[in-house]
Amino acid sequence: MSMIVRRLSRAATAGLVAAAALTAAAHSAEAADTLGSAAAGQGRYFGTAVAASHLGESDYAATLDREFSSVTPENEMKWDATEPSRGSFTFTSADRIVDHAQSQGMDVRGHTLVWHSQLPSWVSPLGAQDLRTAMNAHINGLMGHYKGEIHSWDVVNEAFQDGGSGARRSSPFQDKLGDGFIEEAFRTARAADPAAKLCYNDYNTDGVNAKSNAVYDMVKDFKSRGVPIDCVGFQSHFNSNSPVPSDYRHNLQRFADLGVDVQITELDIEGSGSAQAADYTKVVEACLAVSRCTGMTVWGVTDKYSWRSGGTPLLFDGDYNEKPAYGAVLSALGGSGGSGGPGDPGDPGDPGDGASCTATYTRTADWSSGYNGQVTITAGAEPISSWTATVTLPAQQSVSSLWNGTPTWSGNVMTVRPSWNGTLAAGASTSFGFTAAKNGSDAAPTVGTCTAS
Ligand code: G3I
Repeated sequence: MSMIVRRLSRAATAGLVAAAALTAAAHSAEAADTLGSAAAGQGRYFGTAVAASHLGESDYAATLDREFSSVTPENEMKWDATEPSRGSFTFTSADRIVDHAQSQGMDVRGHTLVWHSQLPSWVSPLGAQDLRTAMNAHINGLMGHYKGEIHSWDVVNEAFQDGGSGARRSSPFQDKLGDGFIEEAFRTARAADPAAKLCYNDYNTDGVNAKSNAVYDMVKDFKSRGVPIDCVGFQSHFNSNSPVPSDYRHNLQRFADLGVDVQITELDIEGSGSAQAADYTKVVEACLAVSRCTGMTVWGVTDKYSWRSGGTPLLFDGDYNEKPAYGAVLSALGGSGGSGGPGDPGDPGDPGDGASCTATYTRTADWSSGYNGQVTITAGAEPISSWTATVTLPAQQSVSSLWNGTPTWSGNVMTVRPSWNGTLAAGASTSFGFTAAKNGSDAAPTVGTCTAS
């Protein structure tokens, strides 16, 4: 009963949703100065994972609303969240995200219908026939509730084992229903919401390897037999142990050549500074080079809420400042400028439009255990009233003091704003300085993009 009421009320808001989407489209036609609008200029979406519990935080919501054109609920659509006891569906948190997204004209990716993890405890003990019935009922319940509102669903998630075997992963579904559970889930999903793109989603399948070969063979088989599959999601969780593969683009292309869309679904890259920015550039360029790569989603808005927060893998730091990786993604998408973080000073027509700055670093003193660094901020062709610069230190180093600036920290990334010296005439300079302990590393810090307002 509650599901029927909810569906009717979702349909009744359709006019509002369409109006919001038009507003977003109008904004993106004005200037490609955000991730979403720049990606739209390339015919792609740029999304993020979202947690309902953070939507009430104003900087979180402002950054989300300004930058992204698609959202994926990070946990709220999973089986344990939506059907904690059999036949009893709970959509409160997921609805909050979907409603928020629709009010901002954003699309929604559905994540995820059938997955071995985050299963409520009642699922695993079921016998084979009962499990089949429960799986199909879960797909129908979730997809029915959001019918017509989800652009792509991760129908089955992570069904293949890691390592070199290319085998299916052991799970209640695999162990009791055999290989055919994936096909059955896709057929049920197609009937439940014919408008949604149906995706298979996995990790460590980003390059050509035994696991991606096994997924490739499955997709090829599905396409040859008419099993409904529309896309493959590449999670793309990268770090030094699992770097962006050199054959990433080739791998995306070979899947696209099977006649499916490809999507980058959970992108995050541990690291900082220019190295992290360069890796993000590789990913965006790979997607743009594959015409059937329809969009990218990063796995969170801010480093502080990332599932890998220690690795600072996202585009905004814990204070919602744009990291060098943000500028790299925006530029790879063909965008320009940037908003400078909370407060949205980059909106067309706002005071401060055209404000820009550069930041350059020099070492002004050096001794065996430490050094003094100086960063010079120079205003561009217009006067500025404030600036923000990021400095990424080698992991071992630590800063003991800083002058003529106000720092905040996220891991080894120092974001510095003015103390007294924010206002600069066109072309004028100021500088801040700091003392760092080398702790065994004499490497130079990296200075990221300077933003001004
Ligand atoms: O909300 C509860 C909180 O009330 C409780 O106090 C706390 C205690 O541990 O747990 C909180 O729930 C956690 C939840 O994230 C929300 O933060 C769960 O323990 C934790 O397991 C859960 O982790 C999620 C993980 O999937 C679970 O497998 C991550 O947020 C989420 O980012 C991650 O996402 C997965 C994708 O779905 C699939 N691909 C891999 C990706 C990363 O692991």
